[in-house]
Amino acid sequence: MNLPRLGVNIDHVATLRNARGENYPSPVQAALSCEKYGADGITAHLREDRRHIRDTDVRDIIKNIKIPLNFEMAPTNEMVEIAININPNACCIVPEKREEVTTEGGIDIKKNQDLLLPKIEKIKKNNILVSLFIDASAEQIKLAKEIGADIVEIHTGEYCRKINNLEDGQNEFERIKEAAIFADEIGLELHLGHGITFDSVKELSKIKEVKEFNIGHFIISESVFIGLQNSIKKFKEIIQEERKNL
Ligand code: PXP
Repeated sequence: MNLPRLGVNIDHVATLRNARGENYPSPVQAALSCEKYGADGITAHLREDRRHIRDTDVRDIIKNIKIPLNFEMAPTNEMVEIAININPNACCIVPEKREEVTTEGGIDIKKNQDLLLPKIEKIKKNNILVSLFIDASAEQIKLAKEIGADIVEIHTGEYCRKINNLEDGQNEFERIKEAAIFADEIGLELHLGHGITFDSVKELSKIKEVKEFNIGHFIISESVFIGLQNSIKKFKEIIQEERKNL
C-alpha cells in the first residue's frame, strides 16, 4: 500500500522554548524523536522575524536527521540564500505577514509571479525541490506548474477548522479533492497541510492523490496528553486505516 508520508512540523517546540527564553525543549531533539517514532519528514519554518525556529535550529536539524527536511520559507532573497546553504530536500514557499499568528492562506502565484520565478529557478538549480503552499484553486495549480514548482501543498486550514467546530466541511473537502486530482493529473506532487487533527485527517486520507501530510500544531499539542510517540503513531494508524478502505 502506498501510504502518504507524514511530515511533522516542529515550529511549536521552538515556540515553547522561546516563551521562557530557555534552551529547552530543543527542536533538534524533537526532530530526532519524531524520526525515531516514525515521522517520514521534518518541516520547519524559519520566519523572517525568527519568532520560533532560529537559523541555528535549522542547521542543527539538518545535520542530525536522516529523514528529509521540508524547509518552509517566505519568498525573500535572504531565505533563498539560507535554503541553498542548508540544502534541504524541499523548500515550501509560503506567504508571510508579520502580524499573523500562523500562515493564514496560500500564496497568490498570479500576484507574485515576478517575485517567485527567479527564486524558484535559483532553488531548483541547486537540486532542491520546490513546493508552493496554495489554496485549493485550479488556477493557482496551473500557475504553479507553469512557474516550475515540483509540489503543491494545499491549505487545509478552513476545512479543518470546520471539522473541529462540528460544522459542515463538505464544500471545502470537495474543493481540496478536486484540486488534488487536478494537481496530480498535470504532474505535480500533492501535499496537504495546516490545521490537521485526528478527526480531519480521516476524510483527507481518502484522497488518494495525497503524497504527504504536513502536521504540526495538533501533534505537538496532543503530545502533552499522550506523548509525541503516540501522537505520531495514531496519525499513522488513522491514515493507514482509511487507505485500507479505499
Ligand atoms: N504546512 C504549511 C505550509 C504551514 O505553514 C504550516 C504551519 O506552519 C503547516 C503545514 C502545519 O500546520 P499546523 O501546525 O496547523 O499543523
